[in-house]
Amino acid sequence: MMCMMSLKCTWECCMQRCARLLASVCRPPLSVSGSLTRPSIRALSLSTTAMAKSKYEYVRHFELDDLCLPNSWIVVRIDGKGFHRFTNEHGFEKPNDAPALELMTRAARDVVDLFRPDLVLAYGQSDEYSFVFRRQTTVYRRRASKLMSQVVSQFSSSYVFHWPSVMGARALRQPPTFDGRVVLYPTDRNLRDYLSWRQADCHINNLYNTAFWALVNRGGVTNAQAEERLRHTLAADKNEILFSEFGINYNDEPALYRKGTVIVRSLETPGEQDSKLSSDTGAPDGSTAPASEGVRTDPKPVGVVKVLNCDIIGDEFWNEHSSVLSGNNKKAK
Ligand code: GTP
Ligand code: MG
Repeated sequence: MMCMMSLKCTWECCMQRCARLLASVCRPPLSVSGSLTRPSIRALSLSTTAMAKSKYEYVRHFELDDLCLPNSWIVVRIDGKGFHRFTNEHGFEKPNDAPALELMTRAARDVVDLFRPDLVLAYGQSDEYSFVFRRQTTVYRRRASKLMSQVVSQFSSSYVFHWPSVMGARALRQPPTFDGRVVLYPTDRNLRDYLSWRQADCHINNLYNTAFWALVNRGGVTNAQAEERLRHTLAADKNEILFSEFGINYNDEPALYRKGTVIVRSLETPGEQDSKLSSDTGAPDGSTAPASEGVRTDPKPVGVVKVLNCDIIGDEFWNEHSSVLSGNNKKAK
């Protein structure tokens, strides 16, 4: 049989066309329900794939690689979208709602678990959490969009998933959402300064909010008056207002509120951890708050996850958890 489609037709081409013609003449019948039977579905999908490869596959080249630079710390920070409103609508206690902060940490721990052992540290305060991937990680080939979307997605769904068990009778009235960003830090100092910046932010906001709500709730002034009173004050002034007018020693406020929360994977054994954790954590009421229940032995030997409410600006934390910066966490795999 001669192929009439092309003058450049070869013998091989003719044979292929004959085979295709035969296949279509001898195609299997439709099933009773009218759907295609298995062999024909397979043939159909094969031909669709072939078509996609030959004609449409070029669009793949529009997908640009967004690889994070090698040998740099990858930080993914998530932040609640419109949480000023969200927290009001859900009746969060002002300025700090302990169960709500615990819920953030529960969600963050799921993210840490998802990426173990590559995610070496997480730090959270208010409606945000920063996740630090080890410098040499190759997870998702260091693709920024993959890392960020997985973190935000896991965090959001875990936040909703754990809501009933952590928030008790409070109903979730609207779906919370979080934004995310990826930032790279080339040096250990840059990474530490980043985390210091977030913890300093926690301190500044919490001191202001504690003074503000003391003035409003206990001092009986309006929001506008409290704002006016605190305008242009320094940290020492706010401490003084709290102490002299309300008998509040700011340093006695729960460490959870003053310091935020650090989740760190440590290579130390669980036995070594138990005693240390109790002094590191700052349960809001001095009891064993959920945040202090951070000691967990993983089924796989990937170290111990600790949840702390401690200072991460000074050297002490970094000396105690030297494996975070040295990269020895990888050995825990
Ligand atoms: P975008 O992030 O820009 O979408 O705005 P946002 O409304 O989420 O504000 P932002 O992230 O700057 O600040 C977080 C807000 O969440 C705070 O201003 C508080 O209003 C609220 N928030 C966070 N934690 C608590 C809490 O424990 N209690 C209460 N009452 N509010 C909280
Ligand atoms: Mg926010």
